[in-house]
Amino acid sequence: MATNFQCFWGLLLLISLYVIHSSPTPHVYIVYLGRKCHDDPKLTSKHHVQLLSSVFSSEEDAKQSMLYSYKHSFSGFSTILNSSQAAVLAKRKEVISLFKSKMMHSHTTRSWDFLGLSLTNTYKHHTTPLQLAYGHDIIVGIIDSGVWPESDSFKEEPGMKPIPSRWRGECERGEKFNPKKDCNRKLIGARYYSGGFEAEYGSLLERNISEYRSARDFAGHGTHTASTAAGSIAKGASFQGLAKGIARGGAPRARVAVYKACWGYELICSDADVLKAFDDALWDGVDVISASFGRNPPFDGLFNYSSAIGSFHAMQVGVTVVLSAGNSGPTPGLVSNVQPWAISVAASSIDRTYPTRIVVEGNYVVVGESFSFIDKPITKRLVIPTNYFSDSICNESSALINMTRPGRVLLCFSDTGGVSITFGDAVRAALKIKASALIFAEPVPRPEGPDLIPTIRIDFIQGDQLRKYQQTFTDGIPKVKIGPTKAVIRKSVAPRVAYFSSRGPSSIEPDILKPDISAPGLNILAAWPTKTPPIPGNGIIDDNRTVEWNFQSGTSMSCPHVSGIVALLKSAHPNWSPAALRSALMTTAYTRDNSLDEILSDGSPTKVSDPFDIGAGHVDPVRAMDPGLVYDMKTSDHILFLCNLGYTQEQIQVLLLPCPSPDLIRCPKSRKPNFNLNYPSITVSNLRSTVTIKRTVRNVGPCKCALYFSSVVEPNGVQVVVWPKVLFFSWFREEVTYHVTLIPRKKSQGRYDFGEIVWSDYSSHKVTSPLVVRVNTFDTTSTTSAAHEEDDDDDDDQLISEA
Ligand SMILES: *[C@@H]1O[C@H](CO)[C@@H](O)[C@H](O)[C@H]1NC(C)=O
Ligand SMILES: *[C@@H]1O[C@H](CO)[C@@H](O)[C@H](O)[C@H]1NC(C)=O
Ligand SMILES: *[C@@H]1O[C@H](CO)[C@@H](O)[C@H](O)[C@H]1NC(C)=O
Ligand SMILES: *[C@@H]1O[C@H](CO)[C@@H](O)[C@H](O)[C@H]1NC(C)=O
Ligand SMILES: *[C@@H]1O[C@H](CO)[C@@H](O)[C@H](O)[C@H]1NC(C)=O
Ligand SMILES: *[C@@H]1O[C@H](CO)[C@@H](O)[C@H](O)[C@H]1NC(C)=O
Repeated sequence: MATNFQCFWGLLLLISLYVIHSSPTPHVYIVYLGRKCHDDPKLTSKHHVQLLSSVFSSEEDAKQSMLYSYKHSFSGFSTILNSSQAAVLAKRKEVISLFKSKMMHSHTTRSWDFLGLSLTNTYKHHTTPLQLAYGHDIIVGIIDSGVWPESDSFKEEPGMKPIPSRWRGECERGEKFNPKKDCNRKLIGARYYSGGFEAEYGSLLERNISEYRSARDFAGHGTHTASTAAGSIAKGASFQGLAKGIARGGAPRARVAVYKACWGYELICSDADVLKAFDDALWDGVDVISASFGRNPPFDGLFNYSSAIGSFHAMQVGVTVVLSAGNSGPTPGLVSNVQPWAISVAASSIDRTYPTRIVVEGNYVVVGESFSFIDKPITKRLVIPTNYFSDSICNESSALINMTRPGRVLLCFSDTGGVSITFGDAVRAALKIKASALIFAEPVPRPEGPDLIPTIRIDFIQGDQLRKYQQTFTDGIPKVKIGPTKAVIRKSVAPRVAYFSSRGPSSIEPDILKPDISAPGLNILAAWPTKTPPIPGNGIIDDNRTVEWNFQSGTSMSCPHVSGIVALLKSAHPNWSPAALRSALMTTAYTRDNSLDEILSDGSPTKVSDPFDIGAGHVDPVRAMDPGLVYDMKTSDHILFLCNLGYTQEQIQVLLLPCPSPDLIRCPKSRKPNFNLNYPSITVSNLRSTVTIKRTVRNVGPCKCALYFSSVVEPNGVQVVVWPKVLFFSWFREEVTYHVTLIPRKKSQGRYDFGEIVWSDYSSHKVTSPLVVRVNTFDTTSTTSAAHEEDDDDDDDQLISEA
């Protein structure tokens, strides 16, 4: 975030680390070999050493430079290589991809952005019976920065059933982590992976990086996400008195297994470590994997990313992987984690606000929003740097700040006569003068709790009114009274898409809509390590507050909400595939807010949200339990998807289970657009002439006979014909195929229009798919592209191995 000075320090640190370590020679590489074919992991490892030995003078040297062997759930290894060794290995035919292990960042805004709400009121539908009924048989794996096991969120509830017998995971001993004491029937697994991080940044011990060499959470992020997904019910949660209530995860009865692969306050997660976490988690027997990090576009191929590789193998063994969409919004096209075999989650707000009154001289009232718990009103004099002199802006070196007495209330504007002031500048200025409170005026107030000093957010209009009042006040400096802060629920329009939430389209495959869905990600209250300050590593002052619960914002926080819901769904529908579970979430998501208007999307400017902001909509856990129909996917769907992206038959073959393959894969002769993948949303990113799209739905409703009727909202300038118009199902789990013909009816060049296709049984089921179309009828330069013309050669779509 440009205005995030905390990120600035993080970046600075990264740059300096990078300078230290960017010698042109060895680097950590990942050598990815596809599926695992041996039941004995030792044989797989042996094969890795043999392969690696081919670029070393001895097997001993090869073993020395091997970092991890991925051998439980798929095959590959990470190793330190120089570029010539990498080039030789990359040419080996069994190598699917070979790439440098890169560092990813967790998708949290690290608490300096936005207003938030308590987990206890996260969903209007998050009803107790649903939450409590399910989940005890489900294991949620969290790949993140570890866990604070002492938190109430990881307490074993009395009467908790024994750990499912299929569990093969471990609770690893490590620094300040004692399996006997720290693991229980709730927190059933805890592993950690630092090899990739340390190969890059040096040993945790030698470099004196303050961290725990164990699954214990240092940064706080992992504790927060794990408790959001599956934290036990914990009474008396609040952030320093604010937002008091009961905290609980989406699936409070589910088991938690943490895989620590993100390190330091910077939350750096190395591909090499993350891949090992996936390798172990899938072997251990998790049902859902939640991972709140990722890389920003551009992407160089789907199998060059740890989370894409890991989630591909997860999908094949029926494990759902939920990932964050990223915090690079509102700029379009920067959504991350776009592979069609995982769920990419956007972030939105909830209906809890913290109104705080500012009363000037006992008569003039402005209501702002505060994230600081001001229990007793603060009454102090108001100072405002004005823009008459360039050095009287709100930062710590301005003359006005130097002259201001301690204890005042400081009013700062985010922009003063064209000079932009970051929130960090204002906080530093306020800290410097020992202000008793800060009022921050910005075009759109974006409270960013938790704060270092009491802070109230107001908009520019309110700020100008305060400034005018102060300037025309003739009797000295006016006094303001601030507070108290109250948490108010159901008094604001929600949800709204958070401005930081990464937007579609997907840069790697624009014909697959991403993000998939939206969930709460704005100032979520969840568990926090008591040894970690609420604003860790803030770069201004040592924040030495101790909290058990903390507010955090980001798609990092929305991702575990969906993971928790998937755990509930999976508990109710144990045989549903990851694609079916995602379909249930997507087709039942809503696009109207609590005022029944279309959900807004914060940005510049704020607008009505579209599928690139929220995917199919905001997640609705109750409706997702009974979606009526699902769009499922088979392995053959993924094969075709990969063929269309240009992967060769040989490459695809070695990705797929079972091993050895019963049939040979054959890609169709020509590559086709991927809009025919049986996805619960439909996107055609380049509509030049009429196309027909195929979709197949399965009846998963409670009755074997079902009748569904279609209705369509046409994207502007596109005629949509759905056929047949009625779908008739006569047995349980019956699959029926329908078609959608899109006919461009306008001249257009590259603008997206949005519509939807709804199947309704006029009872309790409404199965909605967003329809995203970009008409491209203006462009006449490209006469060779036949890619999007009507596909009349249906046979071509069939995979030979299926025939
Ligand atoms: C890479 O490492 C190999 C094996 O240690 C060595 O023979 C080779 O000279 C190295 N190449 C470069 C460019 O450093
Ligand atoms: C490591 O850090 C601790 C505390 O920050 C300090 O006391 C100690 O001297 C440091 N050790 C080294 C080797 O730098
Ligand atoms: C992976 O990245 C490397 C560069 O690191 C690139 O040469 C290669 O083509 C990419 N592989 C795939 C499958 O995209
Ligand atoms: C404060 O603002 C002035 C004017 O824009 C700028 O010159 C100065 O560098 C700023 N100081 C700090 C510490 O950012
Ligand atoms: C304000 O004080 C700082 C040191 O605290 C100094 O560097 C700066 O020059 C002062 N600014 C003015 C305008 O006096
Ligand atoms: C941190 O602790 C020190 C000493 O206990 C105290 O003086 C200081 O005000 C504290 N800082 C904050 C931000 O609370």
